[in-house]
Amino acid sequence: MKFNPKYIRVPNPIEPLQTPSPDRFSFPKISRLKCAALVFIVVLSLIFVLFTCLQSNYCKLSAGCPGIADTPSSLTNQQADTLDHMKFHHMKKRLPQCLIIGVRKAGTRALLTYLNIHSDIVTKGKEMHYFDTDTINHLSNESLEAYRKEMPYSFEHQITIEKTPAYFTDPEVPERVYRMNSSIRLLLVLREPVERTLSDYLQITEGKIAKNKEYLPFKEHVFEKDGSINKSYKGITRSLYHKHLRRWLSFFNFNQIYVINSEELIHNPASVTYKVENFLGLAHEIKPSHFYFNKTKGFYCVKTETQQKCLAESKGRKHPTLDPDVVYRLKRFFKPHNQKLYKMLGTEFDWDDF
Ligand code: A3P
Repeated sequence: MKFNPKYIRVPNPIEPLQTPSPDRFSFPKISRLKCAALVFIVVLSLIFVLFTCLQSNYCKLSAGCPGIADTPSSLTNQQADTLDHMKFHHMKKRLPQCLIIGVRKAGTRALLTYLNIHSDIVTKGKEMHYFDTDTINHLSNESLEAYRKEMPYSFEHQITIEKTPAYFTDPEVPERVYRMNSSIRLLLVLREPVERTLSDYLQITEGKIAKNKEYLPFKEHVFEKDGSINKSYKGITRSLYHKHLRRWLSFFNFNQIYVINSEELIHNPASVTYKVENFLGLAHEIKPSHFYFNKTKGFYCVKTETQQKCLAESKGRKHPTLDPDVVYRLKRFFKPHNQKLYKMLGTEFDWDDF
């Protein structure tokens, strides 16, 4: 290497040797440039890492990055998969390994929202109605591929959960689900039948009011003119849980279905999620501190590092007080049906005190 006097300081033999103060250091111009470039690269890398983290967190929260995750429909499945792979390393859209099958108005949205806190769970926010749509050939590769593509991205170890409460009561669904995945795990929330029937009625009536449509009072739906129970009213038939559960049990083992009491979900969400984590074989990540009671809403809401969230207004409606005679007649009707359910479950709910 050629000697370059510019790069060394030669001590003056007359003056004593002094340690230079910082401002007396003078870097050559080329080194300053290198330093600036280095700082620039480090800052750029930090921004990139931060952006990637935020994006993956956002995708988890929003159940699958719309716009980023979508691949053009003109691509073949293989091309789309390759493209997907390039966008999200090691992440894929997978068919659900767990379904929340119902029952409507029992707290299915709350359960899905709570489970989404878990880092090993990804959830599809929208109800897909894949298995209760009769016009689909549920087993064709094409349909299954279309269904899979609707799912959020997940890592291999994560469980994808979809919820459509209509699955529980549709007679065709258990077999269709079984044929897709006979070892799938199923979550079922059940609610006291009179409350559930009223909640169902309120939801449908609210829709009618919004569309300026006529609607009947609750009593006129649940009772025939002669005062007997209207057994064809869907609000009633959906609440005959033992009938629907029997169909599911003709395809699935009892240990594949985890039944949750809606009351426990409302009042002690952390205890329910703890048991669901057990059922799904997951580590216990969802803690009581993830929930806080919102007095205005009258329900628990979710608190994570990134968000605080209550369910939408349509969840947790105020229920009108029913005429005690209406409640009594409905409870009397449901009681034998509930008893059949308890036998199947091997456990009882406190629904029959009247
Ligand atoms: P109501 O609106 O009748 O009170 P689903 O999501 O299956 O449609 O169920 C809606 C029901 O979830 C609500 O019925 C409410 O009772 C129950 N629920 C349970 N936890 C809730 C929560 N944290 N916030 C709002 N509603 C909740």
